Amino acid sequence: MKIVIPKETRAGETRVAASPQVIQKLVGLGYDVAVEKGAGEGASVSDDVYKAAGASIATAAALKTADIVLMVNPPATSGAGALPAQMKKGAVLISQLAALTSPDDVAAYAKAGITTFAMELVPRISRAQSMDVLSSQANLAGYRAILEAAAEYGRGIPMMMTAAGTVPPAKAFIMGVGVAGLQAIATAKRLGAVVTATDVRPATKEQVESLGGKFLVVDPEMEKDAQTEGGYAKEMPKEYYDKQKQVVAEHIKKQDIVVTTALIPGRPAPKLITKEMVASMQAGAVIVDLAVEAGGNCEMSQPGKTITTPNGVKIIGIFNLPGRLAQTASDLYAKNLLNFLTPLTDKEKTGTLAIDWDDEIVKGCCVTRDGAVVNARVKDAMGAKAPAKKAPAKKPAAKKADDKPAETSDDKTQDKGN
Ligand code: NAI
Repeated sequence: MKIVIPKETRAGETRVAASPQVIQKLVGLGYDVAVEKGAGEGASVSDDVYKAAGASIATAAALKTADIVLMVNPPATSGAGALPAQMKKGAVLISQLAALTSPDDVAAYAKAGITTFAMELVPRISRAQSMDVLSSQANLAGYRAILEAAAEYGRGIPMMMTAAGTVPPAKAFIMGVGVAGLQAIATAKRLGAVVTATDVRPATKEQVESLGGKFLVVDPEMEKDAQTEGGYAKEMPKEYYDKQKQVVAEHIKKQDIVVTTALIPGRPAPKLITKEMVASMQAGAVIVDLAVEAGGNCEMSQPGKTITTPNGVKIIGIFNLPGRLAQTASDLYAKNLLNFLTPLTDKEKTGTLAIDWDDEIVKGCCVTRDGAVVNARVKDAMGAKAPAKKAPAKKPAAKKADDKPAETSDDKTQDKGN
């Protein structure tokens, strides 16, 4: 079978869905791999390096002959470069698809008769950890957030005792201690900052402390019920958010660097930093809002921009921080795809797919197949927009196996990232 890796079309994207190491492995699995000319440019991988790894270099026309297409972002589904219509019926697209929030795209995949797998919907179970693109990219976002803050911050981060005087260490405050937050804490610590962090999930206190940070508690009683069984944060009652604002307002005044990462699956990001809090901060302080693509954790963040407030606080709301580490982000993302694709590959007949459609991971992330939307969560999210196969004429409409929600062993799957 032929795998094609196109050049990403989303504006400003630097990542690519293949690394030379992963191409070698895909070729080893028996696939014929083609990379679109220049696809690796943003990640500093030349066509020659891909060639040496075993890929051929193709034009975009190769997409028409692909059996499998690997991408980072959802492809264009309308206009001249629309991908689904170019692909063969039955061909497979594996990418982050933002499937729960892009009903028109999903309808276009079904209409084109392509099989799609949304990497953001891969269930977060132990067996799928090595396929988890949300984690691989969020970890890099957390790291990069501190570097972005350090670059904008006009003072040193570690304590420095020099002949000219002592530079005090910067104080860094991390709000939201998931994958990105933990890496932000670790990175800030490595740079020598004094780190505090907060989260609604009490389990994170120990994690923060094990990284050498201090945990800021808001309300231990209400936090007892803050976590879903799958480990995600719940939407909290208004009294909690009011209390959190009071506690944070006091703390944030003295902070030099603040990184916010707080998300609640399926909901807009909670607003944790108000205008008044920003106004209380010192000139030169920096806020990095990693939740900006989900509406932002700071009231003053501007999507895609870095701004300076009238009192001199810089607020960084840039998109796609993993894209600023394009080579590492692409390497890890491509590895996630390889780990997803390997078990779908026929053990005997190399270079061919043999998909177990009942597998928990496959069911969790397969979005469209044979002209229909087959993922229960995506169908629910699409409502009336979901094209379905017609039921047999006389029999009552029986529920297809694929209509059942994926029986993941936890509820950690969520739609985000890309
Ligand atoms: P996320 O990106 O959904 O959210 C980031 C953080 O924001 C979370 O820690 C959340 O509790 C926090 N948050 C939400 N509302 C907040 C508020 N008002 N104030 C402060 N913090 C708030 O989380 P992520 O990074 O996806 O991780 C979620 C969970 O999934 C964690 O328990 C993590 O350990 C777990 N996980 C499990 C994996 C696996 O088993 N394969 C892989 C990756 C993560």
